Amino acid sequence: MIPGGTPHTGSAVQAPPFLAACRREPVPYTPVWLMRQAGRYMAEYRAVRAKLGFLELCKSPDVAAEVTVTAVDVLGVDAAIIFADILLVLEPLGARIEFAAGDGPVIHNPVATAADVDRLTPVAAGALDYVAESVRRARAALKVPLIGFAGAPFTLASYLIEGGGSRTFLRTKRFMLDDGGAWHALMERLSVAVRDYLNMQIAAGAQAVQLFDSWVGALSPDDYRRYVLPHMRALIAGVTPGTPVIHFGTGTGGLLECQRAAGGDVIGVDWRVPLDIAWERVGHDRGIQGNLDGAVLLGPWERVAAGAEDVLARAGGRPGHIFNLGHGVVPDTDPAVLRRLVELVHEKTLVAA
Ligand code: CP3
Repeated sequence: MIPGGTPHTGSAVQAPPFLAACRREPVPYTPVWLMRQAGRYMAEYRAVRAKLGFLELCKSPDVAAEVTVTAVDVLGVDAAIIFADILLVLEPLGARIEFAAGDGPVIHNPVATAADVDRLTPVAAGALDYVAESVRRARAALKVPLIGFAGAPFTLASYLIEGGGSRTFLRTKRFMLDDGGAWHALMERLSVAVRDYLNMQIAAGAQAVQLFDSWVGALSPDDYRRYVLPHMRALIAGVTPGTPVIHFGTGTGGLLECQRAAGGDVIGVDWRVPLDIAWERVGHDRGIQGNLDGAVLLGPWERVAAGAEDVLARAGGRPGHIFNLGHGVVPDTDPAVLRRLVELVHEKTLVAA
């Protein structure tokens, strides 16, 4: 059995398996990390949050780094994701963001017109230095690779235009369809800001980056190609060469070929598409990340194990699979179940030295 917190020891391991898996190199076992792996389901996180507001926590590099590292220690995952949020980049662009307790994020000055897009300011030098500092501190304390991240332009635009979360994205779609010029101007500003933000995290020590296009599954393939793809392609092409890019979305069953065309070394999928089918459509020349339904983790262990083994069977032992949930850890999840899941994935995929 692989000890959970320190799997990167022993003669069989040449390179950190997480980064090798991003490049589709053979790895000694399937690496695991979890979206929202540092979150409210974890007692250690709740204790920190009892003393600091969410934004305050993001802006305190020592604490953000500590939260990042604690999640890895508790879960035994193979990579860390820096503690931050996709919405942070919107603040220096001019958005007034609040993480209201229980209601999710709110943007108090949403973008409604072309003039609002013009008023967005370029990100000032140094405005997001606190994230770079979190990355530096976390990296110095970690034994596993560190993933930096950002929101993808469509998902960020949806928060800016809706003023928060949405189920239907009707304001976003109306803006996009009614005023293509303003839409593309907005997407371009976001792409540049996100590209620079990711490259800053890489310069600070992030060894891979993930683009969260969490809500892009709301679009048809035609609209994706017209309104999103050119911006994603330019953004991904502008990421510092040599750093793997994970390109993630949910509800993307209609978009996998488009996402492949946009780019990314690894495509992240949720549970709505079986992993083998998703991988075939993405192409086996890319890596795949996913895709157990987090809801399964709320049930009996036998169901968790069966779900995980099904995902692994669909990956078929092919190099380039990174095990993850299809989306974030569900709030009521027991961290002990997550740890056991990580161990199970390692055990089931361990290749004899
Ligand atoms: O451990 C990690 O995964 C790293 C930290 C991380 C957070 N947000 C911390 C967070 C990451 C990678 C994100 C990404 C993020 N943020 C996404 C993309 C991933 C996804 O789930 O699709 C999105 C859409 C957001 C925007 C956002 N931030 C929402 C919708 C919320 C509310 C969620 C909720 O459960 O209330 C947040 C807040 C947030 N971001 C929390 C955390 C730990 C909870 C805040 C708290 O402690 O009160």
